[in-house]
Amino acid sequence: MKAHKKHWTEVMFIDKARMWLHWMNISWKQAPRTVRNIRRILKKYNITKGRCLELGCGNGRISINMAKQGFDATGVDISQLYIEEARKKAEKMGVKTCFAQGDIRKIDKIVHGKFDVVISIWTSIGFYDRRTDEIIFKKVARLLKKNGIFMILNTMSRERLLSIFCSSLYEETDKYLKLNKIIYDKMHSIIHNKWVFYKKVNKDLLYEDEFDFDLRVYALPELVDMGEKAGLQFKEAYHSLLTLQPAQGDSAANLVFQMINTQQ
Ligand SMILES: C[S@@+](CC[C@H](N)C(=O)[O-])C[C@H]1O[C@@H](n2cnc3c(N)ncnc32)[C@H](O)[C@@H]1O
Repeated sequence: MKAHKKHWTEVMFIDKARMWLHWMNISWKQAPRTVRNIRRILKKYNITKGRCLELGCGNGRISINMAKQGFDATGVDISQLYIEEARKKAEKMGVKTCFAQGDIRKIDKIVHGKFDVVISIWTSIGFYDRRTDEIIFKKVARLLKKNGIFMILNTMSRERLLSIFCSSLYEETDKYLKLNKIIYDKMHSIIHNKWVFYKKVNKDLLYEDEFDFDLRVYALPELVDMGEKAGLQFKEAYHSLLTLQPAQGDSAANLVFQMINTQQ
């Protein structure tokens, strides 16, 4: 019998979930500011509270901060470890939230009822093929209340990628050094990444692990088209979620859609 080849998301976020958890924990310090600006955007659409759903919520930094600001927050992630960590953090902080392990491709079977806001933040789309992402958009549209908002935030766009592209990058934390080798397949707009992690031990770097993964990077008009085909109305785009400057030619995806017609 032919063995099933695991999709890279299962390897990175399930089998070897601890490594990415370290990097997600580091991003927690930016979350209160990010959520402050998400709330500023939502206020423009008269949304100041209500039900918020995060697709691919990781260990909860955005959902927990949304709940702290009075939203009824639900987060869904494929990784059981991240969901358990998110629950622990919410409990420790005394914040009421709902976290569920599940695959966003089946989001309609995981959550119930309609939402005021759905958020996909920090590259939580583009893991599969375009058709799959289109289906996710359609499922999101059906989960939104009338005038509800769908936001795709802090996600790489083709425009941004082409303006900053570099085939070798590195990042470091107190514990690890991460080398990233990138090959850009421009005919399919997929970036093939190889991440190699080294652990810092005194003055040495010890090889720890490596991951290969492919990410589909959409151009901004493609994302707008996918949203509109799902029945959403495109409202606006920002250059950065930290400054809330309007989008320009080389912006990452920070897009806001609204569900105007709920008849579908
Ligand atoms: C880059 S992280 C972003 C986490 C979170 N949104 C944040 O801003 O901290 C991407 C997340 O998507 C999750 N993910 C990947 N594929 C998924 C899927 N099919 N269904 C649900 N979650 C998924 C991963 O486990 C990971 O936590």
